[in-house]
Formats: sequence, structure tokens, C-alpha cells
Amino acid sequence: MFIKYLSVKLLQYMCVILSVQTISTNKEIERLEKEIGKLSRQVMLQQLFIEEKTRSEGDSGLKQTRILNDGSKPYHFPTTRSKRGVAAIHDHGHMKRTIGVGEFVAVLNGVEFRTRHNDPELRMPSTTSSNFLETEEIPFPEVPPEVTKKETVAEQVQEMREWFRAFKDQNHKERDYRKYFKPVLCYLEGMWVYDNNTDILEPFLSDRHKLDASTFEDLEDKIMFTSYGGRKDGMENFGWLPKTIVYTENGKSPSYAQWIYRIVCHPLKHDLPLNRLRMIDDLSSRMMFLRSEEEEMKTRRARFKLNQRDRQEWKERFDQSPGFIDSLMSEIPGLDNYGGNLTDEALNLPAFCPGKEQKILNTAYYHRFYEEVRPDYMRLSLRKRAFSDSNLFMSMTSQQQVAGKSLNYCTKEDSLQKKACKSYHQRWSYAVPFEIIYLNPLTNWNPYNITYKGHYKNDPEAKFVTENGKRTGGNDIHTAYNGTNSWYFFQIPQSFYSGNENKKGNGGIGVLDENGKLRYTRASGIRVFIPEIRGIGIIRQRYPIMPLYSEGNTAYKEMESLKDIVLENNNYLKMFHNLPKDENSDKLRKNQIKLSVQRGITLIMSMATMSDPGPHTHYVDLSAENVNALKSKKKLTVRSSEDSGHDHRVTIEYRPFLKNPFVMTRCDHKRKCWDGHKKLLLENVEQVQEQDELKEDKNDIDRPENYKE
Ligand SMILES: *[C@@H]1O[C@H](CO)[C@@H](O)[C@H](O)[C@H]1NC(C)=O
Ligand SMILES: *[C@@H]1O[C@H](CO)[C@@H](O)[C@H](O)[C@H]1NC(C)=O
Ligand SMILES: *[C@@H]1O[C@H](CO)[C@@H](O)[C@H](O)[C@H]1NC(C)=O
Ligand SMILES: *[C@@H]1O[C@H](CO)[C@@H](O)[C@H](O)[C@H]1NC(C)=O
Repeated sequence: MFIKYLSVKLLQYMCVILSVQTISTNKEIERLEKEIGKLSRQVMLQQLFIEEKTRSEGDSGLKQTRILNDGSKPYHFPTTRSKRGVAAIHDHGHMKRTIGVGEFVAVLNGVEFRTRHNDPELRMPSTTSSNFLETEEIPFPEVPPEVTKKETVAEQVQEMREWFRAFKDQNHKERDYRKYFKPVLCYLEGMWVYDNNTDILEPFLSDRHKLDASTFEDLEDKIMFTSYGGRKDGMENFGWLPKTIVYTENGKSPSYAQWIYRIVCHPLKHDLPLNRLRMIDDLSSRMMFLRSEEEEMKTRRARFKLNQRDRQEWKERFDQSPGFIDSLMSEIPGLDNYGGNLTDEALNLPAFCPGKEQKILNTAYYHRFYEEVRPDYMRLSLRKRAFSDSNLFMSMTSQQQVAGKSLNYCTKEDSLQKKACKSYHQRWSYAVPFEIIYLNPLTNWNPYNITYKGHYKNDPEAKFVTENGKRTGGNDIHTAYNGTNSWYFFQIPQSFYSGNENKKGNGGIGVLDENGKLRYTRASGIRVFIPEIRGIGIIRQRYPIMPLYSEGNTAYKEMESLKDIVLENNNYLKMFHNLPKDENSDKLRKNQIKLSVQRGITLIMSMATMSDPGPHTHYVDLSAENVNALKSKKKLTVRSSEDSGHDHRVTIEYRPFLKNPFVMTRCDHKRKCWDGHKKLLLENVEQVQEQDELKEDKNDIDRPENYKE
């Protein structure tokens, strides 16, 4: 009895002790959860810190390629070029659809990452599906019927050469090459996706390479190991792709996002004349091999830039409006693919298309610029995405896999008047242009009727091409390839090119046609340079136009200025502190004015008169070229600076008989500015500053209460 009593008591005590323990364990768990939540937030802030720092130190663009050599000067070491190609571009001409691109480090919106060996396939976003990362093959141009209707192969070769001559000379009078030489714009695209610890996500196809890892964790381990010990994966299939915490649920459990990227292409809607592209003189690249500009242009290390405007003449200038590249990139959809249709309504102001007609911008396509239109539809401001990124294009998406950001947005006024706050959730992807490839009719040209046996791995028939390595493209029927496949794609008649490109037999690559007859061929895939065609020369097929990370940095801009002054010193004499002394210096001095670049001017608009938004002015910057155009009696519409939260599109005319000859004749395409700026435009910066100060005194526009929070 007593024992029973005792054991019951004991049990009761134990329960009490246990429950006390449970309470304290629960409390402890709660405390730990909170601590983890706080730590997770700190980790997020750490990532933000790195990104913000990267964003302010450079632009989105290419940063570094692998270094394999040694040298006596810093420029003997590659940065943005491998020894042989900018962004390590190269040829896989024998493959049907592969664009040779090696490993590189790049930055997109402050996220730095290292790619695997890329070798992307020539593909575009899907035109029919909105599935995440779904792509389709870009069609190759047709062969001109003028070629195929020729009876003999020799005649076809002759005619095909003439089409290449027309392309090279950009002469579409006799043969309209524009129907058969199609530019595609390839771009480097990056995004954060939710990481659900599933298999590794391979964001783009390549026949040659893929990330050599089963999960992203596996990839991280490989990068940590090889970066620590400096080893290189022989196949170049490792890449460094950062991971971050995107948010913490209820302030407790963290959600992770993985950075992924891809290289995809888009067939441009219109022809892009070759004269819209100009080589950028990256001096360190030329110095590495001591090449003249002309010599550099003939190498894969040459990098190009698109003209600011869609015209033939090149002018050095800065612009207040979207450029030619913006109109090309605006053809490219983000991750919702070509059917995407989204709007950005963040911070209570929808993003509009920059331009004359006020249209809501479809943010599911890539853009840098957008316009803000205030609710009264009067105040316009041109804005550029990112704080200080020259080259970053952005696009919104509705893909659930993309890790977005939310904001519950309450303005101060809203909370005072107890108006409802608004919450936003947005998902974005980022891109920079990568290269322009001119597709040509060679891929579809098959005058020998050689049978294409499909994808080298997926189609059983394709195995016959090499017969387990027995067939190597030799010049006899026993070793010639038996037809072609996606990896061994040779069908251009050897006689189309001049010279021996491939040492494998002087007759080119041997391939059996549909009747088992031996034919001598050349590779039909995409190359940086198409081999020499007799009488026409070498034609470039790929024009790399990727921007560089370092271009966004102050030292680079000072270097570029100095480069222009030194390398083109006749044009920039006025920039010298002391004119260079040499035998020509007197002559130079005499011609100084004539030789110097003319300067641009800044105009200032008159003070606005409407009480909302209050007194303010705008500056209007005119380049030397603008001034010349105006003086030759042209009208000009330019965008003013942004002040008091908006800008104006100002149409200017030059009236030489007036004291202040620059007159604003239209404002935002109307007769008068909505906020009351007069037609008067004053020149001369000093004069303007004085006037500014006077007005400021009078109107007290700088008082803090005039600024809304
Ligand atoms: C991955 O996780 C995120 C959030 O953690 C979730 O919203 C998403 O639906 C998940 N995706 C898949 C494919 O499981
Ligand atoms: C996008 O959607 C809006 C309304 O939702 C519609 O007015 C517009 O025509 C659409 N644009 C395209 C290109 O489909
Ligand atoms: C290829 O096929 C076409 C159509 O069948 C034929 O007209 C042409 O002669 C063939 N070419 C060769 C080189 O056999
Ligand atoms: C070439 O390949 C085809 C199948 O694609 C096969 O039927 C034929 O026998 C092969 N020819 C030779 C000479 O091996």
C-alpha cells in the first residue's frame, strides 16, 4: 500500500518536473527560432551589402576570363578576353547549332558569378509556351532559289559566292541578301530561383557541356574545393553560382534562392546593317599582341558597340533618351517568353513607355528606360532602372519559380489619413546584350544531297555517321563520314572556300552522299569568321557586343578619356594643359580652334509659375552636334533635366536675330508647358547660376517644408 502510494507520488513529481522541462524547452525553442530569424535577416543584409557594393563599383557586364599564361606586363594577362577570344568565344563550326563560348566571370545587377564552359545552342525563348526557361530552335535562313535552281554544284557554288559578296559589300540592289542573312541578338540573362533542394537546374542546353554536379550543393563543394586548391576542371563544367536567403517566413524559417543564368538568342525583326557596329578600342587587348586596330578587328578578341542611333554616321555624344540598343532589346521577352504582358505599378506609379504616346510599358520585355506619369497625366519623368548601371536591362516575370520580393508600401500621407497601404510582389530577371550573329544560308545549303541523320545522341540513325569511330571524315569511302549529324555537320562543297582550312586531307572532309558517293565538304556550323572565299575574302559572322563590368568604374572612364586625348590628339587639343611641343606645334596652335571639338552648351528654362509643384527650372543640354543642327535651321526635340520630380520634352528652334536665340517652341508636344515655363531659354552657365541664386532667395524654394518626404 505504502509503496503504491509512494510510486504514485513519485510519478506525480516526475510529471511536474517533466512539464516544467517541456515548458522551458518550448521557450528555448521559441527563443532559438527568433534568433535564427534574426541571423537569417543579417545574412540577407550581408548579401545586400555585397550586391550594393558591386553595383556601385561597376556596370553589369563581362569581368574576367581564365588566365593560363604568364607575361612581363599587366596587359599580357587576359581580363575580358581569353588569349583567343573576347568572353572566350570560339568556333565549333562542325556542329549544327553550337555557339562556342568559354568560361567567364560576369556581373548582372550586382550579382557576380562564374559560368561553366557555355557553348550554348542557337535557341530562342518559346513562341508558343510560357513554361519556365522553355526555348525553341531558331530557324536557319533559307537558301536563295537563285542558288538551288542552278543545275550543277559548280554553278550553285558560283551563285552562292555572289550572295556572300552582296552581304560583304552590304549591297542589296542586285541580290537582296537581307532575306537570307539574318541577324540574331544573343544575350546573357540571370535570375534568382527558389532552391528546393531538388536536382540541379540546367537553365540552357548545350551539346557539349553541362554543370557537372547533381545538386547545387554538390556544385558549391566542387567550387570551394577547386578555388581553395586552384585546380581546374578539365571539362570546364564547374561554375560559381551564388545562393542567398530571400526572405524569412514569419521572421523564422529562411527561404533560399539560387542564382542561375543562361545565354539565349533572339532573331531580330529587321536587318541590322554592318555599319551600325564599330569596334571598341580596348587598348590592353591590342597591347597584349601589339596589334593595330585593323589587325585586332581580324581577331576574335575584337569587341563591338552598336551605334547610339540607327544610322550610318557615328557621333560621339551622350543622350537623354533610349538608344538603338534599347529598341533591339525591347524585342526580347523576359522569362514569360514572347506572350508575356505585365505592368510595373510599384510605388503607386505605373511605368510607361518612354516616348511620345503615353502607353503603359509591357515590363515582361527587356528595357532600361521607363517613364513615370503622375496621376494628373501632366508630369513626366524619364527613369533608368538601377541606381547607376549603364547597361542593365530588366524584365518582369510571373514565373512561380523565380524568387521575388514583396513590399507593403505606405506613404506617410496614407498612414496619417488611414488610407489602405498597398502591397506589391514582383519578380525580375536581368540581361545584357552578348553578341550579334549573322545567320547565313550555308546551314540549309546541301547541294550534294547528303543525308542529315539527326541529333548525334538522340537519333539511332545518327550513329551510322561515324560507325563507332571507324569513319573520321577521311578522303576515301571507307573512312568518310556516312552522312551528317548534329555533331558532324559537313555539307558545304569544299570548292566554295579557297585555301586549306583543315589539314585533314587536302580535299576537305570526306562525306558519303545519299547514294554512297564520296563528296569533299567543309563544316556548315556557326563560326566567328567564315573561311576565305575566293575573290571575296573573310567574312565575320559573330559580333561580340557585351559590355564590361569595369566600364562603370571611375578609373576606367579617366583611362578612356586619356586614351582618346592621346590617340586622337588632333581632335582634343583643347583638353591639353600645355600643347604638345614638336615640329608641328606652331601649325597645330594656329589651327587649334579649327581642330578642337566644338563645345556643347547648356540652356536653362524659365521658372515655372504654377503653384503645384512650385517654382523650379530645368536644364537642357545640347551637344556640339545639336547646336550645329539647330544653327542650320533644324528643329530639335530634346529632353530636359529632371527637376521637381519630372522632365519635359522640349522642342527648340534657333532664331539668330534674337538676343537669346534658342527658343522653346513646343513643350511636351504642346504649345505651352503644363507648369508654366516660358519660351525663353537662356544660354551661358554662369549667367544661369546667378539667376538661379536670385530666384532662390525670392521664392525660398530650398526650405525643407517644400520637400515632401
Ligand atoms: C519552392 O519553394 C518555394 C518557397 O519556398 C515555393 O513557393 C515553390 O512553390 C517551390 N517550388 C517547387 C517547384 O516546389
Ligand atoms: C496586355 O494587356 C492589356 C490589358 O491587360 C491589353 O490592353 C494589351 O493589349 C495587352 N498587350 C498585348 C501585347 O497583348
Ligand atoms: C540532289 O537532289 C535534287 C533533287 O532530287 C537533284 O535535282 C540533284 O541533281 C541532286 N544533286 C546531286 C548532286 O545529286
Ligand atoms: C550508311 O548508313 C546507312 C544508314 O544511315 C546504311 O544503311 C548504309 O549501309 C551505310 N553505308 C555504308 C557504306 O556504310
